[in-house]
Amino acid sequence: MILTLAKKSKSSTCIEFITKDSINPIQDFDGEAGQIAVRYLEAQTLIYCGLGDVAKYTTATLRRASAVGLQRAKSLKRTSISVIPPVCAAQQESVDAIIEGLMLGDYSFSTYKPIKPQSALSVELISKSYTQKRLDRIMSICYGTNYARALVNENAHIVTPEYLAHHARAISQSQKCSVTILDETQLQAQGLNLICAVGSGSATPPRLIILKYTSPKPNAPTVAIIGKGITFDSGGQNLKPTGSIETMRCDMAGAAAVLGFFSSINEINPSVNIIGVIPSAHNAIDSLSYFPGDIYTAYNKKTVEINNTDAEGRLVLADAISYTIDKHKPDAIIDLATLTGGILVALGDTIAGLFCNNDALANKLFTAGETSGERLWRFPLYPEYTEAMKSDCADLRNSSKLKKGWASSITGAAFIQEFVAGTPWAHLDIAGTAFNEGEAKGEIPKYGTGFGVRLLAQHLGNYLSE
Ligand code: BES
Ligand code: ZN
Ligand code: ZN
Repeated sequence: MILTLAKKSKSSTCIEFITKDSINPIQDFDGEAGQIAVRYLEAQTLIYCGLGDVAKYTTATLRRASAVGLQRAKSLKRTSISVIPPVCAAQQESVDAIIEGLMLGDYSFSTYKPIKPQSALSVELISKSYTQKRLDRIMSICYGTNYARALVNENAHIVTPEYLAHHARAISQSQKCSVTILDETQLQAQGLNLICAVGSGSATPPRLIILKYTSPKPNAPTVAIIGKGITFDSGGQNLKPTGSIETMRCDMAGAAAVLGFFSSINEINPSVNIIGVIPSAHNAIDSLSYFPGDIYTAYNKKTVEINNTDAEGRLVLADAISYTIDKHKPDAIIDLATLTGGILVALGDTIAGLFCNNDALANKLFTAGETSGERLWRFPLYPEYTEAMKSDCADLRNSSKLKKGWASSITGAAFIQEFVAGTPWAHLDIAGTAFNEGEAKGEIPKYGTGFGVRLLAQHLGNYLSE
């Protein structure tokens, strides 16, 4: 899709937005949010997108409406479209949301479809005040989101730890950042035993990927963003059953969010230093896989009893976090992980879990979630949950001693907390939001959603000003 700014509409197909109380009502259309009406006027096609009540609609309504409007234009096989933002949404943020709806709504997973959905669209956004600079930034973040989606959607046989490393190297060529990759020999030599254990049963060995962006601002703080990169989660010896295993190529969605964010870091231009870290492994079932009952020594020398080889995400994150603290001394850490099925039970597939040891960081992230539309809800981390992760034969166990299924998202987070050594830290459990098993909903496609890229851009792009 080619998206340009224009002062006046030139296309014969126009997307417009209508509120319920519009002064000029359109026949048989009441402007309900999410509704669409198409009208033909001489040589023109008008696609009206409902926004609902004028007093109630938000940027999320605009984002959804423009995505649905664009999809209708595509289904009508229009290749050239003008989009006219409503006068009642003159703020820049409203126009941002409309652009996001267009760019994100244009994506669908079609790599293996012989007939691709039409995409060579030329879209002009009609605005007298919106700047090209702002458009470039939003477009770049949306490309980053679509890139993350494509990484999640591709076959697990293609998306291996080394494949993610290759992508990180490519990003470091185009963006202002450097890359370091640790291979399995280096992981062993450095004592990153938990990452090695999780990856031990696979023919595609683990990697630790580190991207580094240095802000032009002197003495800027450093934030580490750490993405779980399990390229396929079979569950290992605790093999996942049919019904749970089919979508497990999505278990690197945290890694995809970090890569998606770094792929647009030049445009985001953060005023903080950022370390992107991806512990990546394939959790395979094999005679060489790690076993339940085994005890491993983590990078920070804590010992971990493996009760369940399917609780592998917290293991790779634990090592990645202590390594990052040791080598880079970040001022804050944010991890993104498809960590637990429990988060789907608690929040469904539209809101991610937030676990945090620092109220200021939690509040900032919550606000970034509300603004970006990638929303978060915070859970408690009381000592009882940490207690449930203590082992009789090691410092920690990797799955809790609570009854099966009890507070599994919180105990997972409590395990990770044991590795942050007091650093302000937030854990985002994106197991529900990263992959949409249902039908597409406007800007949220079926399959990989790219969740996290826009949230990170919102949080880190305004880190010092918020
Ligand atoms: N990758 C899964 C979590 C997951 C579930 C992601 C559904 C996406 C959708 C994770 O590694 C896992 O298996 N977690 C277990 C932990 C349990 C064994 C303590 C879970 O949530 O059941
Ligand atoms: Zn698992
Ligand atoms: Zn997993």
